[in-house]
Amino acid sequence: MQATIPVNEPLVDGNEERYLAECIRTGWISSEGPFVKRLEEGFAAKTGRSQGIAVCNGSVALDVAIAALGLGPGDEVILPSFTIISCAAAVVRAGATPVLVDCEPDTWNTNAERIAARITSRTKAIMVVHIYGLPVDIDPILALAHRYRLKTIEDAAEMHGQTCRGRPCGSFGDISTFSFYPNKLVTTGEGGIVLTDDPTLAERCRAMRNLCFQPGKRFVHEELGWNFRLSNLQAAVGVAQLERLDEFVVRKRHMGEVYLERIGNIRGLQLPLARTPYAENIFWVFGVVLEDRVPFDAVEAMRRLAALGIGTRPFFWPMHEQPVFRKLGLFVNEIHPNSERLARRGFYLPSGLTLTDVQIQRVAASVREIMY
Ligand SMILES: Cc1ncc(COP(=O)(O)O)c(C=O)c1O
Repeated sequence: MQATIPVNEPLVDGNEERYLAECIRTGWISSEGPFVKRLEEGFAAKTGRSQGIAVCNGSVALDVAIAALGLGPGDEVILPSFTIISCAAAVVRAGATPVLVDCEPDTWNTNAERIAARITSRTKAIMVVHIYGLPVDIDPILALAHRYRLKTIEDAAEMHGQTCRGRPCGSFGDISTFSFYPNKLVTTGEGGIVLTDDPTLAERCRAMRNLCFQPGKRFVHEELGWNFRLSNLQAAVGVAQLERLDEFVVRKRHMGEVYLERIGNIRGLQLPLARTPYAENIFWVFGVVLEDRVPFDAVEAMRRLAALGIGTRPFFWPMHEQPVFRKLGLFVNEIHPNSERLARRGFYLPSGLTLTDVQIQRVAASVREIMY
């Protein structure tokens, strides 16, 4: 049997090794080292923002964002059901109330109409999450936020280098966040960043990241923060990755096009949209959804592909169906049919930056084999 094609493999053959060696040589390995600032400034500039605060992953970036915006008990935050648990977890941990909206069946993203329908007098913020490489149509949502004076948190974890109507994803929220996990277009191993244009919010984020140490009285604390710092070693990898972001976006788009060409004519598969009026997909991951007429679900499809040496991952499981939230009495009796269907029928194929056209061809042949 041929070697398994992993669902993701990062591409780290640029300056990563050289910059890491520089950390070792100079002894700068903690978060105080110069690569952290270089990553923060470089990533913020690339995303059109003035402030970047590097943190140790994309999940805690959301905790920092919520804390910095002062959201807490009594405040409702609207967010999609179809996303990773980090989004709802950050809201719940802050003591605020998550209010869910469904996604669209074709873009897998939510939209302004769905959000508008859930705004109440208690709504304080909208958490926008761009899913799998295609951005949310952001302008109508920003207009809603403006009209109702709501804060916006933009989770752009999967959107490095992506744009919406020509403006960078990650530039839209009062606070925006990214992940640098190894399946992302820019990785630091583990890591993330918080972005904003507001220097006061940025200061709050920096304090929250660093245990709320005070400049004058270091070990006297007025507020509780966390140690969410990113090390210089991790940032060194990130700086090398960031140098190649444009190249990585081109590569992902190419991979997406090759996939579409190779599996576009397989009956029973819904494929990602290549483009919408507001964006071109960067295919962060290449997701597929089994149409209803297919007599098996995503679990079975992934099992069959694994037997052929093809790595896959299931789609997100909706927030309203999470046992942990049900146990907290949240989302009782809620139904979000599009999210539920994607969770059961959707999964993604190998999508890492090292994937070759020949490997995509093998994945496509395997997908064809399991479908018929
Ligand atoms: C939309 C979204 N938000 C947040 C995260 C969390 O990022 P991390 O894994 O760095 O904690 C991810 C991770 O994949 C994600 O896809």
